[in-house]
Amino acid sequence: MICLGIESTAHTFGVSVATREKILSNVMDSYKPKKGGIHPREASEHHARVCTDVINESLSKAGLSHKDLDLIAFSNAPGIGHTLGVGAVVARTLSKTLNKPLIPVNHCIAHVEIGRKITGCIDPVTLYVSGANTQIIAYQGGYYRVFAETLDMGAGNFIDSFARYSGIPFPGGPVIEKLAEKGGYVELPYSVKGMDVSFTGILTNLRNKLRTHELKDLCYSMQEHVFAMLVEVSERALAHCQKNELLLAGGVASNKRLREMCKVMCKERGAEFFVPKKEYCVDNGAMIAVLGLLMHDAGVKFKKSDYLISQRQRTDEVMVLWR
Ligand code: ATP
Ligand code: FE2
Repeated sequence: MICLGIESTAHTFGVSVATREKILSNVMDSYKPKKGGIHPREASEHHARVCTDVINESLSKAGLSHKDLDLIAFSNAPGIGHTLGVGAVVARTLSKTLNKPLIPVNHCIAHVEIGRKITGCIDPVTLYVSGANTQIIAYQGGYYRVFAETLDMGAGNFIDSFARYSGIPFPGGPVIEKLAEKGGYVELPYSVKGMDVSFTGILTNLRNKLRTHELKDLCYSMQEHVFAMLVEVSERALAHCQKNELLLAGGVASNKRLREMCKVMCKERGAEFFVPKKEYCVDNGAMIAVLGLLMHDAGVKFKKSDYLISQRQRTDEVMVLWR
């Protein structure tokens, strides 16, 4: 069974060819705004421009052609409407012309499933931290339930906004990580509310401190505060769910300090820590192909409306029939 997975929820157009056993290719092309954040129309124009080349390159890296495909999977939710639309049209066209089944896939759940596949963890609590999303997800009672989440913006968008105020271009995460290595401690708000986290207050505080403090100190302190918040709620989710595996996913998972803090917390409570390599943490087509195959094998049935894109579908709205 050969599946082609298409990812297009935000800045990345990704295409992967995968079988149940192996990921044969994972090609991506990301829109990079000249300034500011993601401009939805520009991002969708980027995807429309590169889609054919990315598909062809993915097939060629896998050593296959269109006619070898058995299944087309695409991320139909959640994300930016403009960019989701491009992926949906491309996927539907391939499915119709090749006469192969089409599988709509939830992007957040795909981050969890690629993590399970690549790292070999079985039943993790997932700390999913990307640009738009920050959620702590665990499987319970037939659904991937959200045990904690951001009350305002995703951690990555928060980091990118702080970077933008500091004159650092998008994506700000890697530059801030580098600056933080030489920074010292400055007190900032610590914003955990119940199981949830919030970032906008910290962002305002950081913005005000830009006039009076050194950037490297703010970068260091931002990471220490925000990652401690995330690790605190992750630990409580592990305790509440009585699970002993933590999986880190999403673009912010590339951050070494976040990984280190997760690792220490897990070690201290006797849990195991897992993080896939960067290629599978950021938005990618492989995670869509992997979840597409799982859903197909579980015999998930779709209504016509399931094929539509959904900008706001929540992780816990999808019934999980493959576990
Ligand atoms: P999603 O659609 O799941 O919200 P996304 O479109 O934001 O994902 P990702 O590739 O998962 O895309 O994540 C990108 C985010 O990761 C950006 O906000 C970027 O700043 C952040 N990021 C990347 N590397 C690092 C790093 N080393 N430290 C902190 N943040 C990072
Ligand atoms: Fe993502």
